[in-house]
Amino acid sequence: MGEVTALGYLGFYATDLAAWRTWGTDLLGMQVADAPSEASGEALFLRMDERGWRLAVEPAENDGLAYTGWEVADPAALERLGNDLADAGVKAVEDPALARRRNVEQLVRCADPDGNELEFFCGAYIPEQPFVSPLGVTFVTGDFGLGHILQNVADAGAAKRFYLDVLGFRLSDIIEFGPNRVHFARVNPRHHSLAFVEVADEPPSLGHFMVEVADLDTVGRALDRVNAGMARLTETLGKHTNDHMVSFYMRNPSGSQTEYGCAGRIVDEANWKINTYSATAYWGHKVPGSEYSADGPVSPRVPA
Ligand SMILES: [Fe+2]
Repeated sequence: MGEVTALGYLGFYATDLAAWRTWGTDLLGMQVADAPSEASGEALFLRMDERGWRLAVEPAENDGLAYTGWEVADPAALERLGNDLADAGVKAVEDPALARRRNVEQLVRCADPDGNELEFFCGAYIPEQPFVSPLGVTFVTGDFGLGHILQNVADAGAAKRFYLDVLGFRLSDIIEFGPNRVHFARVNPRHHSLAFVEVADEPPSLGHFMVEVADLDTVGRALDRVNAGMARLTETLGKHTNDHMVSFYMRNPSGSQTEYGCAGRIVDEANWKINTYSATAYWGHKVPGSEYSADGPVSPRVPA
C-alpha cells in the first residue's frame, strides 16, 4: 500500500505534433528532448527538469491522454505494488519492452476502472545534458513529480476503491462542486497528484493536467502569451481554496485543459486534516467572459 511516490510522466495522443511542440516550448517553457533510443521516432518528448522527458506526445488519429506514469522508489516497491494490484483482482503486467521504450528501469502496467492506461515504473533516466528551458522557466518537480491530473471518472466509488484503497493514495480533501464532489489525493507533499470527479453525462476523460513553476512572474508572463493568442484561456487567473495554487487554465493542443500555476501548498503529513470545501477558488478561475450576466454576477468554475 502506498508505493507510488510521484506523477512521473504523461503520454498523449495528438493529431498535431507541431502545435504541441510550439505550445510546449514557446508557451510553457519546456525543452524538446532526445527521444529514448527504443521509442517511436515520430513522438515528441518534452523535458521539464533533469529527467530525460516528462511529457511524450505520439502522433495519432485522435487526441487524448495515452498513458499516465506513476513512479515508485525501486524494484522492491514495484513488486509490492504488483502484489497489491493482484490481491485486488487487478490484472497487471510487467512489460520490459515498454520499459525500454519509456527509458525506465522497470515497468508494470494496468488499467484503472475507467480503462485508463497506467504505467508504474522505477529507474527514470537522467541524461548528462542539463535541462535548459527556452524561456528560462523553472518547474517545480523533484520529489513532487511533474504536477497533477484531474480525471473525469464514470464512478467515483470505483475510483476511490482503486486509487485510495488499492494503490494507497492519500485523500487530501474534497471540494463540493454543485452536485459533484471532487476528491483530491496525494502521493507526496504536493497537495494532490490526482483529482477525480464523477460528473453526470461526462464520459471518463482527462479534465486537465497541471504544471507548477517557481514564481508568480513566470505565471504572469505565460498568461501574457496566452492573452496574446498562443492558446485559448479557459479560466482566468485565480487562487484555489484547497491547494492554494495561483494559476490559470488554457486549452492544450490535445483538447483538454492545462493549469499553469505557482505557490502550491505543501502538505505537512503529520498534521494534515481533511477538509471539505464549498468552492474551488478564493478568487478568479472564472470562465472568460462569463463573470457577469443580466441577472448579476455569475461565477462558473471548474474543478481545481
Ligand atoms: Fe488543478
